[in-house]
Amino acid sequence: MNHQNTIQLQQEAERFPEPEVIAPTELQEIEISLLIEGLYQMYGYDFRGYVKASLSRRILNRMKAERLPTVTALLEKVLHEQGYLERLLNDLSIRMTEMYRDPSFFAAFRERVVPLLRDLPEIRIWHAGCATGEEVYSMAILMLEEGLADKTRIYATDMNEKALAAAQTSAFPLKKMQQYTKNYLKAGGKKAFSEYYTTDHQYAYFSPHLEENLIFAQHNLVTDGSFNEFHVILCRNVLIYFDNDLQQKVHLLFHNSLAEGGFMGLGNKESLLFTPKGMKYEEFISHERIYRKV
Ligand SMILES: C[S@@+](CC[C@H](N)C(=O)[O-])C[C@H]1O[C@@H](n2cnc3c(N)ncnc32)[C@H](O)[C@@H]1O
Repeated sequence: MNHQNTIQLQQEAERFPEPEVIAPTELQEIEISLLIEGLYQMYGYDFRGYVKASLSRRILNRMKAERLPTVTALLEKVLHEQGYLERLLNDLSIRMTEMYRDPSFFAAFRERVVPLLRDLPEIRIWHAGCATGEEVYSMAILMLEEGLADKTRIYATDMNEKALAAAQTSAFPLKKMQQYTKNYLKAGGKKAFSEYYTTDHQYAYFSPHLEENLIFAQHNLVTDGSFNEFHVILCRNVLIYFDNDLQQKVHLLFHNSLAEGGFMGLGNKESLLFTPKGMKYEEFISHERIYRKV
């Protein structure tokens, strides 16, 4: 990938500010339901089980940004013009992320989970909803420092193609590196963080060596199935956007994809409250939302 592409992909992927809060009218709520149904019927993108408040806000902001008078006008454009669809999909995928987000999670993972993975012949980790890859590179560095990189395969998936393309550039905005370095150290990082990347005036480029065991793929948690058996699944800050029924459905997918004794890591506002009955997990490190399949 050339340098120009890298910059373009990263710029596109850089975070949008949280959209302005606009409450939908009753009529707009009806139109929003039709738009969501249209996306599903026409393209198979299934947002029907997403939390409505956040979806509505994003749809109304997209309508405004496109200078359209109604959500129905947006639906019309989305059904007939690819560009509108792409921009809307991009808005509906919330990509906020950072390296070693919640450093104590990674510190606990390093101290308590890694020792139990050490003796496996191969370690498969799935980052479901990896966004632009910050969490994935954090894990790749952690496993390298623990001497396990050679036998670890990290599968990184997201429904958002653009986010995945940005993740694969292994470049992150230089202005974020100060914060990421602090996170890395709090997460128990063992070296100078700068040893892992080179920089230009805009980006930090992580070592290609880290990418050797990374596999990126588009995968939609709502509509796609299980594709391997994993020893660790991290799905952090994704289920928070799903309603209870959809969370149940996705937990079934995770349970089916996790080896016995495997670990499941969630975001700090997420829990296993909405797992279907019969799925047994031990609260392995409950305050870090790390669970173990029994
Ligand atoms: C807020 S980011 C979380 C990134 C990272 N896991 C973290 O915690 O920093 C949420 C990601 O979930 C993805 N996502 C949302 N719905 C999804 C779905 N149905 N299937 C796969 N990914 C999805 C979004 O595209 C977005 O990249």
